[in-house]
Amino acid sequence: MINKAIILAGGMGTRMSPLTKAVNKQLLPIYDKPLIFYPLSILMLAKIKDILIIVNKGQLNQYKKILPNGNNLGIKISYKEQSQPRGLPDAFLLGEKFIDNKNVALILGDNFFYGQNLTAKLINCTKLKKGAKVILHKVLKPELFGVAKTNNLGKISLIKEKPKKFISDLAITGLYFFDSKVVEYSKKLKPSKRKELEITDLLNIYRKKKQLSSDLLGRGGAWLDTGSIDDFYKTSAFVSAIENRQGFKIACLEEIALNNKWISRKNVVDSIKFYGNCDYSNYLRRLI
Ligand code: G1P
Repeated sequence: MINKAIILAGGMGTRMSPLTKAVNKQLLPIYDKPLIFYPLSILMLAKIKDILIIVNKGQLNQYKKILPNGNNLGIKISYKEQSQPRGLPDAFLLGEKFIDNKNVALILGDNFFYGQNLTAKLINCTKLKKGAKVILHKVLKPELFGVAKTNNLGKISLIKEKPKKFISDLAITGLYFFDSKVVEYSKKLKPSKRKELEITDLLNIYRKKKQLSSDLLGRGGAWLDTGSIDDFYKTSAFVSAIENRQGFKIACLEEIALNNKWISRKNVVDSIKFYGNCDYSNYLRRLI
């Protein structure tokens, strides 16, 4: 079972400078909420309540203003500062104490997931006992991502980080599920050519032990990333289109907490006071 997760929200967001000079990328808006709400909502939909957010050194106070400790969402949020980005598996080295020899999920702070049946899929992934599990999604430009080749039984036979030569169009999305061995294996990794520890190297350790499984987010689901300014606006437009059509909000944290029965109406009233007079608060008011 997986009850703990890490959100990796560090990084300098250099591709989005000057927007990211003063404010961390994950606090910039995707339509009507900070980007960090979206990966956090995914963990909450997976019913994970114990969450460590890794942030850049010096940016902790920005985060604590919007997500102080999780109390009002019925979850526990703790923080760890990262002095410099050293690659995704560094999350498991920084988070060793938090992980405490348990299984753990990792989501990248800038990944956006959406789709029917996503919650059921997520909950299924948290049932992992041994090994590791990734979510794959077909993309037009696999060379931009970690990529997995699967055989006809859906087993992963090859993994490559940003392959120049085509091996498969299935990208490995930024949501990973690991058993408690993840810290030990991360300690064995050596930096790659781009001087970072690579998540694909970590996944390859599991693959070689025949302990790597995958699930597919099919064409009815959306996985968007927010790496460049262009991607950022496309994701914002996606959220705006869905929300304004349906009247539901994507990644309303209080709504998910309420549906999970983690909080009461009183907590929502407190949230409304906290956010102040805004569209998000009006939505919360309608919920209760
Ligand atoms: C990272 C991972 C890559 C993965 C991607 C998902 O890429 O290295 O395997 O597919 O996140 O967003 P990066 O953001 O470091 O380029």
